[in-house]
Amino acid sequence: MKKVIVSLVLGLGMLATANAQGDAEAGKAKAATCAACHGATGHSAVDTYPNLAGQHAEYIVKQLKAFKDGSTRSDAVMAPMAAGLSEQDMLDLGAYFASQPISPSEGGAAVGGETAAVAAPAAIVGDAAAGKYLYENGDEARAIGACIGCHGKEGASDVLIYPNLAKQHPEYIEKQLTQFKEGTRDNNYAMSSFAGQLTEQEIADLGAYLKDPSAVANVVAKKTKAVAVVTGDIELGKAKSATCVACHAADGNSTIAMYPKIAGQHESYIYKQLVEFKSGARNNAVMAGMVAALSDEDMKNLSAYFASQTTSKVAKPEKVNEAGRKLYFGGDSERGITACAACHSPSGEGMQAAKFPALVNQHSEYIKIQLEQFRSGVRANDMNGMMQNIAVKLTDEDIANLTEFLKSL
Ligand code: HEC
Ligand code: HEC
Ligand code: HEC
Ligand code: HEC
Repeated sequence: MKKVIVSLVLGLGMLATANAQGDAEAGKAKAATCAACHGATGHSAVDTYPNLAGQHAEYIVKQLKAFKDGSTRSDAVMAPMAAGLSEQDMLDLGAYFASQPISPSEGGAAVGGETAAVAAPAAIVGDAAAGKYLYENGDEARAIGACIGCHGKEGASDVLIYPNLAKQHPEYIEKQLTQFKEGTRDNNYAMSSFAGQLTEQEIADLGAYLKDPSAVANVVAKKTKAVAVVTGDIELGKAKSATCVACHAADGNSTIAMYPKIAGQHESYIYKQLVEFKSGARNNAVMAGMVAALSDEDMKNLSAYFASQTTSKVAKPEKVNEAGRKLYFGGDSERGITACAACHSPSGEGMQAAKFPALVNQHSEYIKIQLEQFRSGVRANDMNGMMQNIAVKLTDEDIANLTEFLKSL
């Protein structure tokens, strides 16, 4: 896990380029109307009102715009607040709140502390250790990405349009996750699909964890669910693999760039593909012929065999493709492109139980063909259209950048 975090931080570090130019002093003056609810220094006293202190200015501006145009976030309280703000006001307010220390003890007490008692008593008590596990690992079996991939270690995100979550009110976190789940807040594909899978207990656990992640830094994360995977017989699979050799090579490391390497790919993913070539859910004439005569047992065994092989390495380019790296780790929120790393993992190894394939060391030509097929809809066997939804937004240039970047992973 540590390695993953480090590589992600390295990957994202370069993306933290500011483009907003707000004036914190001017923002302070304009923040007087916000103080009643968010506190003069951005530490709100009411549990369902978010703390703004130390939040990324870019994220604050993005939310104010969303409240103002109502396109993606509607809130009866914030809409009228944002309605009167100019672009410059938003930049200034963002700069001011971002400049405030996250910890209230360092920043002075919140205004209006007397109103603190409005929150309803929590029906479900959150478990911070369970929340920590979910935050750091996600749950592959239910296709919930690890929150840490986007929101950063202990809730401090490196990507400026991804909110910091550390030291936020648990009640506010829970309210937002519930809104993503119910679709009333719906401007982020990843958040909607991940939150949709969370139980009420897990939402409470995450709230409890994020209240103060550093306080439980030494608490062992508590795993709450076991994960089941396909298991075939490697030897029987090897015996069946003779017909695959011509294109994928004996060990699954195809030497022809159009044909995918399947060595070391996740067993559950390979099996899903074979089943779907057979049913026609994944549309490919060549592979349909190959799997037509295979039984379910054969497909499980073949999956086990190829998964057990080691993927051959691709030659790393001298220079990392920056545009590709940016898309891979940060996505593009303006265009609604989710970061590839959220599902394919920061290392490109994917996630076995969620059937998110490994991309690392795959042939570039094959990756390009697949992205084009998802984009055109020729390939449409992805659960909930999650790859098509992303691929339709990719330009030819994006695809070229991504395939080039992937060689550097
Ligand atoms: C009457 C109370 C009230 C006032 C005044 C108010 N807000 Fe809010 N604000 C809220 C509430 C409630 C929410 C949470 C909305 C939700 O649940 O989606 C919120 C949310 C926000 C968010 C989103 C934070 C996040 O983490 O996503 C920002 C940014 C924000 N307010 C900025 C401001 C600014 C800037 C002002 C002053 C111009 C202001 N607010 C004035 C009540 C208020
Ligand atoms: C692929 C990246 C990604 C992953 C993974 C991810 N998030 Fe998010 N999250 C976002 C983005 C982007 C936003 C802001 C959406 C917007 O602009 O309204 C967000 C917003 C949020 C918010 C609202 C914060 C606020 O201040 O209003 C919460 C809470 C949250 N995420 C929790 C989680 C949890 C818990 C997980 C893990 C189960 C998770 N996120 C996984 C990208 C991600
Ligand atoms: C005549 C060449 C050929 C033969 C023989 C062949 N394949 Fe394939 N295979 C392909 C091509 C081409 C694709 C890519 C299809 C596409 O673009 O959707 C593919 C794709 C796959 C995939 C999907 C990989 C991914 O990353 O999504 C798997 C798994 C696979 N083949 C397994 C097998 C197995 C197991 C056999 C033997 C039973 C086999 N193939 C025989 C050409 C072949
Ligand atoms: C929300 C999760 C998610 C995100 C984000 C995502 N992918 Fe995928 N991707 C998938 C899933 C699931 C599949 C496999 C679909 C299937 O079952 O056949 C896949 C398949 C692929 C494949 C085909 C691999 C193969 O072996 O055939 C490529 C290439 C790919 N993704 C690239 C990307 C790139 C590049 C990005 C970022 C621009 C991205 N993905 C973002 C979930 C995701």
